[in-house]
Amino acid sequence: MVRSIRTKVIISMMSLVILSGMFLGYVNYMDSEKLAIDIIKRNNKAELENINEYYFEKLIFDMEYIVNIWANNQEIINYTKTDDKLYVRSIPEDFINIYEKWLGLTESMKNVTWLYYALEEDGSIYIAPVDETMPLDYDARSRDWYKGTVDKHGEIFWTEPYIDAGNSGKLLQTVSKAVYKDNELRGVIGLDIELEKFTEIIEGLSYSKQSNIFLLNEKLEVLASNENASENLSIYAKKAVSGEQELFTLDKIQYVSTYVPISINNWKLVALTQTNLNEELNLIRDRILTIVLLTIIIGILMSLILSRNLLKPLRSLILTTEKVSDGDFKVRSTVTSNDEFSVLSMSFNSMLDDIENLLTQRDENYIKTVTVLANAIEASDEYTRGHCDRVGEIALKIADKLNLTAEQKSNLRFACILHDVGKIGISDRILNKPAKLTENEYEIIKKHPEIGFDIIKEIDFLEEPAKIMLQHHERIDGKGYPYGLKDKDIRIEAKILAVADTYDSISSARVYRERVFTNDEIKKELLNSIGSQLDKELVIALLDIIKEF
Ligand SMILES: [Fe+2]
Repeated sequence: MVRSIRTKVIISMMSLVILSGMFLGYVNYMDSEKLAIDIIKRNNKAELENINEYYFEKLIFDMEYIVNIWANNQEIINYTKTDDKLYVRSIPEDFINIYEKWLGLTESMKNVTWLYYALEEDGSIYIAPVDETMPLDYDARSRDWYKGTVDKHGEIFWTEPYIDAGNSGKLLQTVSKAVYKDNELRGVIGLDIELEKFTEIIEGLSYSKQSNIFLLNEKLEVLASNENASENLSIYAKKAVSGEQELFTLDKIQYVSTYVPISINNWKLVALTQTNLNEELNLIRDRILTIVLLTIIIGILMSLILSRNLLKPLRSLILTTEKVSDGDFKVRSTVTSNDEFSVLSMSFNSMLDDIENLLTQRDENYIKTVTVLANAIEASDEYTRGHCDRVGEIALKIADKLNLTAEQKSNLRFACILHDVGKIGISDRILNKPAKLTENEYEIIKKHPEIGFDIIKEIDFLEEPAKIMLQHHERIDGKGYPYGLKDKDIRIEAKILAVADTYDSISSARVYRERVFTNDEIKKELLNSIGSQLDKELVIALLDIIKEF
């Protein structure tokens, strides 16, 4: 039964572990492609964010910083036009100082194409360096960058990319800010950046060797990319931003796409990274399989150990139950687990306590009943009063020395109390006759074991004591009664009873005896009866007991 429960527990636990392991493994295995793409994308994204932060956003910060400085410059704020000429291709004398500073700045920063100041007064524009190709009638106030900047009321303004108004044909973007004096608009400070600058940045990145990088504006137009990026790739760059086709194959090369937004005009930086997904997948799948196998093995070992420990208390309880069913009511369960088994064990022990108490009580009641019966018989014989008690006491001491079982001792005790119950059927005249009995009278006395046996044999719990009592006058030499049984055919309990009975008879006053025997006479009498009437071993045991008195 134990094995069967343990097997069930092990099978349940193992099934659970294996199913969970397989389920987790299956889900992860099926998900491994997404996992691989996610890992690649996460790495790409971190790379793009770094590039964005260190190159693009830094560039933007620098540009805004320059514009801010000049928009707050006192020379600019306080500059007042001294003639009515519309400046586009030349710089007046009173602006040369500022112009030269600008020139130095634009020369030191390759990406800054032009720095300029456009006046609100008449749309005149002072440009460094001077652009000879600008139209003579150029009025800054009509340009989108100027109007957009004024609308920003002193905040930084970024235009969309546009083609230079002069003949350079360069793709530019302007960053600008309005100039105020005493809250009155004086003009706009602006700075142009060549978009080519972004291409240069992309080309200069070591990351560009493994990825194609695209800079897209809000309308998803390509502003800059690696020089070798094909037209077809740019289509996938646009798809990347809308979240379509993160994984695609072009010209037998597999790519994963990633993008990050840039903090100007919602532009996007997109990376199309060449990859070999199968290699990545195999690595991930091998790792998943290893983890699942290890999990299952550990789970199986754990279930074996756990099931054994779990069922240990149950095994102990079953062993206790087996002992109880063998008649040992003194055994107790020693389960010390801190679970329901402990509660069960305590209840079981409590139940055993109750049963043991009931059995003791029952035995006591039996003894009392039987003693009452025996006393009734002894009452008619004043010389034998107390005889049964004394015989019982001595017999049990001998039984202890011989290590008889509890059951044998219990039967012996009843047999001692009842051994002469058969005398109830014999006349007082014969029993208490002071003179020597006739042969006929002696034959009648000899019937008392059988009479007693017939009286008590029908009582279930006295069945064994009755058999002992029946043999209490048998002798080792076969000359006893009622059956003349010899040594080996006489029960040990009956031999003990015979020894105890003989001892009490010769050591007490009897109707037919003139005086009480001395200890030496008793000893002599007992030794004389060894081998004929009494068992040698038992007499020696008795003599040991007498010494202790
Ligand atoms: Fe007797």
